[in-house]
Amino acid sequence: MQTVGVGIIGFGTVGAGVVEGLLHNGDLLAQRLGVKPVLKGVADLDIETDRGIGLSPEMLTTDAQALIDREDVDIIVELIGGTGIARTFIEQALKKGKPVVTANKKLLAEYGESLYALSRAYHTDLHFGASVGGGIPIIRALREGLAGNRILAIQGILNGTSNYILTRMEQEGLPFETVLEDAQRLGFAEADPALDIDGYDTAHKAVILASLAYGKAFELHKVHVEGIRRLVRTDVEQAATLGYRIKLLGIIRRDIDSVEIRVAPTLVPQNSMLASVNGVFNAVMVESDLADHTMYYGRGAGRLPTASTVLADIADTARNLAMDAMMRVPPIPPTGESLQLKSIEDIRCRYYLRILVDDQPGVLAKITGLLAKHDISIESFIQKRPDIQGDAALVIVTHEALESDMNAALAAIAEFSIVKPPTVRLRIATI
Ligand code: HSE
Repeated sequence: MQTVGVGIIGFGTVGAGVVEGLLHNGDLLAQRLGVKPVLKGVADLDIETDRGIGLSPEMLTTDAQALIDREDVDIIVELIGGTGIARTFIEQALKKGKPVVTANKKLLAEYGESLYALSRAYHTDLHFGASVGGGIPIIRALREGLAGNRILAIQGILNGTSNYILTRMEQEGLPFETVLEDAQRLGFAEADPALDIDGYDTAHKAVILASLAYGKAFELHKVHVEGIRRLVRTDVEQAATLGYRIKLLGIIRRDIDSVEIRVAPTLVPQNSMLASVNGVFNAVMVESDLADHTMYYGRGAGRLPTASTVLADIADTARNLAMDAMMRVPPIPPTGESLQLKSIEDIRCRYYLRILVDDQPGVLAKITGLLAKHDISIESFIQKRPDIQGDAALVIVTHEALESDMNAALAAIAEFSIVKPPTVRLRIATI
């Protein structure tokens, strides 16, 4: 049987998972493909730590460059992560005409455009299935399964750590800090947990999904990102009373000539499928013109689930090499449209507000008057009984309103001396 040589750079959690997957399922993969991916070597700065998978020491090297250069290595699998040396290795491999498989979401979100261009220039595959959704084949679904569709919206729970925290805050009534400590102990948070809880990991993934959906790279730094760090139990409880759960959503929605990409804790109706995605699980709901709604669910992180998707990319690349069909599916298939990123000020949605006020005559009239002045209509309203300090919480759900109007209204409301900060504003998902 024809073979293709595989070189892996990065022998961390996912790298070891991919080696394990190749060792256990390599023969099955070969039968399915008609070509056998054969591991030729693994490069890492640390080749001493025992990864518990029985890889013979001759397979290990600290010289990634030499691995890329080897004649018998046909596919480079980059699993170091980050935007430093990983980028150099990927560029070197592509320039040598060697196809690359990577799980590096940050690199693709920040430098995707130049890497996609390099892949096209050298007519060499660049696969990144494991960069979004871990074991969920969402990238493949967008690149191939939904290729005949116009993508209208993508809404996803794309970060397992945040979802774990939000789930336990809701189900067990625990405060944010307590659950974050547990998540760190359990080891699925990023090395820098700020990436998870401040929403940037979700933003990286949202930008990659938007690029696939609309055939162009969007600028990460222009994406509106809010994390879950400031979320308090009161809002989780209020949302539940109103029939919602709070999820950290990456939202991508196309308008006529623009695309909205945003990340924020968002109220999701309790009866929607996204609301029932709990713990470390991820899910992505895609709305497209022909298939309508499709949903993809699974483990968004972890050694073997992520390795599963890396193996699928190795399989694709091996097939393409064997059939001399490089770029059968280009990394970002152009759609021919030129869509701009929409400013957050221009989005429209329903809002949840919680405003703490002095319980005095006329307060409610002032607040609702200001909302009306900015064209914001109230859909429902709850006033909580004042606490012992005499502060009353107003919980308001609005009809759809423009973000810039909401910003102006909240700025004006903050000027009232009877309003006690912080006022909470959360958006409600359109599902
Ligand atoms: N830290 C990420 C998460 C891992 O919690 O989902 C995968 O990107």
